[in-house]
Parts: sequence; structure tokens; C-alpha cells
Amino acid sequence: MGDIGLSMREKIMIINFKNYPEVSGDGAIRLARVAEKVAKELDVEIVLAPPTPDLSRVARSVTIPVFAQHTDLAKPGSTTGFIVPEVVKACGGVGTILNHSERRVPIKVIEELIPRLKGLGLYSVVCAKTPREVKDRAVLLPDYVAVEPPELIGTGRAVSKVKPDVISRSVDEVRGVRDSVKLICGAGITSGEDVAIALELGAFGILVASGVIKSESWDSKIRELARPLVSK
Ligand code: G3P
Repeated sequence: MGDIGLSMREKIMIINFKNYPEVSGDGAIRLARVAEKVAKELDVEIVLAPPTPDLSRVARSVTIPVFAQHTDLAKPGSTTGFIVPEVVKACGGVGTILNHSERRVPIKVIEELIPRLKGLGLYSVVCAKTPREVKDRAVLLPDYVAVEPPELIGTGRAVSKVKPDVISRSVDEVRGVRDSVKLICGAGITSGEDVAIALELGAFGILVASGVIKSESWDSKIRELARPLVSK
């Protein structure tokens, strides 16, 4: 915990634990430790996004980056129940997902949050459903924009195979903005081949949940998904 940053040059895999019961509480720590082991053995950037109540404990248990799944535009202090960037940082988080399709926020909120996160040294991954949304969010200059067609989430039908054009068009939209903004993708990714195709289409990494969490072996599945990310 503490100074765990991202290189921003390495391809990235973000494991979103969502609120799956098997990766909550002690399960969150188990998955985090498996991911940490694979990240170190393969030397790849794996980021964990555990359920919010587990964030602090996960961040204290591993030495790979931990993100919040969502952060609110709320001030520290009397803001009961909100997820406050400063508190995410104090708990060992080094970044946050924003605007996941399961937790959408108005674009004005994203616009205000990104500079605040930057000021705190926290990374931001802003989700978008379409290449058009990618464009509108990339101009706000987050570190990553993640394109995820919602209808493919949790289906095992990978965005890179079913809707490859969504990735390539999103890559083009981000390229037109600034080099510092990286395009990643997610939805239905379950195999190393899905990841390899996403990278060939120009994505800088992936966001995955059920493909890992519901797999028979977290270790071998994370390993399979991470292999294409290994820098040559
Ligand atoms: O945040 C990751 C995500 O929405 C993709 O979910 O279950 O299709 O890997 P899944």
C-alpha cells in the first residue's frame, strides 16, 4: 500500500470484482492474492477493483494497484454513504473506475471529478458504451477510457469478436484526442484469444469480471488473459 503507481506504458488488465459474493470479504482477498502472484510472475500490470467495503483490506493485502469501482462527487466530511476520492486514497486506492454502465454518472460529474482525482494523484478509468461516448469522455482527459457494449457484459461473448468495430472506432476517437489517454475495452472477455484480438485492434488493455470470477481456476484464467499483455 502507499506508492503503488501504474507505469502507463504497460498494457493493463483491470479485474472488476463487481459485487459478486464469491469475491467479497475473504473471497476478495483470495482473488487479489492470486492476481498479484500472476502479475508478478508474468510481469504484467493487473489492477484490482474490489467491492468498496473491501477496498482498504485488499489494498493492505497486496502490492499491485487497487482501484475503486466508483467514486462520488462528494466532499470529505459530512457526506454519509458517499465514496469520496480523498478517502479512497487514504484507504490505499490509487485510482477509480467512473461511469461504469452499471453505475452511470452525468458527464458534468465526470468533468469535475477528473481534475480532482488528478490533483490527488489518483488514476481514472472512465467507461463508455459506444465510440461516440468514448469521444465525449476522452476529451475530459482521464487516464483511460474503457469501451464496453453493455449488452455483451457477463455474456461470455467478447466485444473483440462480436463487435470489433466498436474497439477500432473507439481507438480512433481516442487517438484524435491526446496520446496520454489510453483506450481499453471490456464485456464478455473470457479467453486469451479475446484479449489478443482486442490488442490487435489497438486496445491498450482490458476490463474483465465474470470471465475471471466464474472460471474454474482463477490462477489459470488470469494467466491466460494476461499472457497477451506481456510486453515483448
Ligand atoms: O467492468 C467489467 C465488465 O463490465 C465486464 O464484465 O463480466 O463481461 O467481464 P464481464
